[in-house]
Formats: sequence, C-alpha cells, structure tokens
Amino acid sequence: MDMAIDVSVLKEPAEDWKGDALLLLAGEGGHAEIAPPSLVSYIKTLEERGDFEGKKGSLMKVPVFGGGVKNLYLAGLGKTEEFTHSLLRDALVCALRKIGRERGGSVLVIADKTGPDADVILGEAAELAGYVFDKYKKKDENNDDGKFSLRKIFAPRLDEKKVALGRIFGESQRFARDLANEPGNVINPVTLADTAARFAKERGLTCEVWDEERLAAERMGALLAVGRGSAVPPRLIHLTYSPKVKTGKNPKKIVFVGKGITFDSGGLDLKPSDFLKTMKGDKSGACCVLGVMKGAAALGLDAEVHGIIAAAENMPGGNSFRPDDIIEARNGKTIEIDNTDAEGRLVLADALVLACELKPDVIIDMATLTGACAVALGSWTSGLFTADEALCEALLDSARKRGERLWRLPMDDEKIGESLKSKFADLINSGSRYGGATFGAMFLAEFVEKGIPWAHIDMAGTDFMKEESGVYSKGASAWGVRTCLDYLAGMFGVSGV
Ligand code: BES
Ligand code: MN
Ligand code: ZN
Repeated sequence: MDMAIDVSVLKEPAEDWKGDALLLLAGEGGHAEIAPPSLVSYIKTLEERGDFEGKKGSLMKVPVFGGGVKNLYLAGLGKTEEFTHSLLRDALVCALRKIGRERGGSVLVIADKTGPDADVILGEAAELAGYVFDKYKKKDENNDDGKFSLRKIFAPRLDEKKVALGRIFGESQRFARDLANEPGNVINPVTLADTAARFAKERGLTCEVWDEERLAAERMGALLAVGRGSAVPPRLIHLTYSPKVKTGKNPKKIVFVGKGITFDSGGLDLKPSDFLKTMKGDKSGACCVLGVMKGAAALGLDAEVHGIIAAAENMPGGNSFRPDDIIEARNGKTIEIDNTDAEGRLVLADALVLACELKPDVIIDMATLTGACAVALGSWTSGLFTADEALCEALLDSARKRGERLWRLPMDDEKIGESLKSKFADLINSGSRYGGATFGAMFLAEFVEKGIPWAHIDMAGTDFMKEESGVYSKGASAWGVRTCLDYLAGMFGVSGV
C-alpha cells in the first residue's frame, strides 16, 4: 500500500493524546524533556541505562506500562553537531515505516532540535514512508512490505505551508518511482508517452509527442536508430509548464532532458544476463523529469519549465542499428556506432539539440548513462558534469541540502576528447572503458550549444535500490527529483525551502 498519511496539528496537550503510537526523535545527550511529562523519568532511565542513547540510526519500540500511550517508539538523531536534513528524513521515514507496519492508525511525532526545515521533511516523509511498489502483488498478511496502515500523523506545532511543500517533494518522487518501477512489458516508448500526455492534461501542462514519422521529418536520426530494433517505435515527448500568472517580465526558461530507454538490452551488443536485470530502470532519467515537472507545476513557479524525454527501447532484431552504422543526429553531426549498448548518449544527442533550440537559460539532463559512473561513485552518489561553475555550485548545494549525494566529475579531458573522433564520421559513440563516464558526458557536450549553461547528471548507480534503506524503498529511487526541485524552488524564491 502506498497511501499517503494525513498530517495535522495536535489540539490537546501531548499528555492527553489517545492515539496509537508516540514517536520521539531525539539526539544524543539527554532530550527526555521533550516527552509528555508522565514519560520523562522513564525515558531518562532508558538513557541512563544505555538502552536508548539517541544514537544516529537507532530505532526501537519500548514497553510502557500505564498511562495513555499505548506504543512508544524512540528514534535517535545522533550528535547535534552531526545533524543533517537527510538524517532526519531517513530517521522519520524509517520510524513511520516501522510504526505503519507494526501498529498503524495514528502517531504523535515529537522531535527535538530538528531545524527550520523539519516540517518540510515531515510532509515529505508522510508521502514516502508507506511507499512500496506492490501493485502486482496479491495482498498477503505475511508480506511485511505490503502491510502499512498508518493514516494520521500529529505534531505539537506545524507550519502547514512547509508541510504542503514537503508533500510536493514527496509526491513528485512517488510519481517518478511509480513509473520507473513499471516493467518493460508495461511501459514502452508509446505507453510512456501516453502516461506523460495524461499527466500533462491533469496538471494543465502542454504535451507534444512526436511519433516515428514526425521524428524522421524532424531529423531525429539518432533516436530513430536506437529505437529501430524494437517492436514498439520510439517517441519524443515534450512537456511545457508555463506560469499561470503573467508577471510581465520574461520568465526564465529551464529545460530538463531525460533518458527514456524503457528497456536497455544493449541491442546487438547484447548485455550478459546479469546486466539485463534492472534495465527497466534505464528510463529513470525520464521518470525523474516527469517528477520534476509535476513538482514545478505544483509549486506554481514563475518560470517556463520544459521536460524533454527521448524514449526508445533498445532491442536486438532484424531491423536493429548495428556496430559500424553511421547515423546522423538532428544537428547534422554524423556518428559511427562502435557499440549499440552506448545508446543513451544517442537518444540524448537529438533531445539536447532540440532543447538548445528553445534558447533556454539552463539545461539539465538526467540519465542512467554509464556503468563507469556507477563503478566510480558507487550506488549512493550520482555524477555531475558541467562546465558552468555557478550551475555546478547551485546543484551541489541543492543536493547537499536535500540529502542526495552528488559528485562533480571532469568533462574537460582533452585526451578523452580526442577519442570521440571517428575515422569515418564526425564522432564515435564509445571508446575506452577507462573514463567511460567522462566520455559519455563529453559526447553529449557535442550536442549542446556553447554559451547555454548545461549540466549532465549520470544516475546509473543511484536510480535503483536493491534493498529498502532510509528514505528509499526497494526499486526505483527517483534520485535527482529532490535536488532538481530544490534547485528550481531556490531559484524562484519558493518560501520555506
Ligand atoms: N544503461 C546503461 C548504463 C547503466 C549501467 C545503467 C548500469 C544502470 C546500471 C548504458 O546504456 C550502457 O549500457 N552503457 C554502457 C556504455 C558502454 C557500452 C560504452 C556501459 O556503461 O557499459
Ligand atoms: Mn546501454
Ligand atoms: Zn542505457
């Protein structure tokens, strides 16, 4: 079940509250005083005995005898000086998840020293704590993931606006996760486009979809080449959010570009079976773009926000593009195919050219582009590639603030730049295994107009979580949605961020 939880202000004194569970979030060093008076001495005893020390990541249910509180949960926030938003988000989501599975009903949350963003994080946690992708599973009492029945959260003080903002962050992530978790037999380029169009209609965005004929007329040769081996044709999806209230000034224009490979088999350069698994996630960049569009619309930003998605299925077949093929991208550059598994950069090439034609102020692309990036940074950090210092700082800042790890990697390596050249075409789509993530980014740069600030986010390691952990549930992570939404919200002065 992934129903969101209601959040309200507690009307009565905590002491008199008669709900199902009480959750105390406290750091190290004795914060028992935050508890309702009748529990203070009990919690002090637990602290003194070393049963609960407020250590980072600790989470326990402790027995209470007598009094109104039926179930008491304690979650640790660690040392005050080590406190981060991400720590609070993880602690809250883990605790609410546990309570939702073990008890359900309602919970009163009392937290200590959690900073000005606590209510944003509470709203976000209310959306994400119950999230699991289980729509294809029979409901089963023994299935822990599925059992979640927390419906109401109460807190002593709340800034409703901040909770609402947090909900927007949370909903956007859920939307992106839901879509990215769908398997390849459900979401293909055509059904992805249908989903985007339906979503756009619901939210008052415009959505233009180019089918294969239009793609040919528009010279999207790279996207078409990648999509050719599949029984389902490729699509270019273009969503636009425009501010409802015209302020008279020219609104800034931001374009998000997403890699939408609905399944990446590798094509004729077929992946070995171990690597095929999870390749339904190769559309994660596209799903995150949709999540960001959803958030941008809900925030009502005073900016024009575009989402461009290049959707194709990379499959081997009689009609597939091949190694040695020479194809032509929308900007006229020719590309020799070295490896059909380096397909993301091809579909993005056409999409980036299109993005530049909009003459935007900023372009940000999100893509599960290279295994090399995952090898370099691991499963918890995405790669950031940009030549624009201001954009770099802004994105690193947003990522830090929202608890998504992001690390800048180089894209100014002239030796790798040399290796982009082909003997027979303008460019070649893959090179040495060494520096593969930088090669990918530098390849993309060939399709971005100089002077337009552009950042590429390689989320190949972070898009998919093997196990539930912190804010993440098993499967799609929607990594990047928080960072990009924070970037937008910060840029356009959304209060409370
Ligand atoms: N979609 C993959 C990258 C990927 C790998 C995403 C692991 C998520 C997890 C991409 O299309 C790909 O296959 N890249 C190749 C490029 C190579 C052939 C130059 C890779 O990384 O091996
Ligand atoms: Mn591939
Ligand atoms: Zn791919």
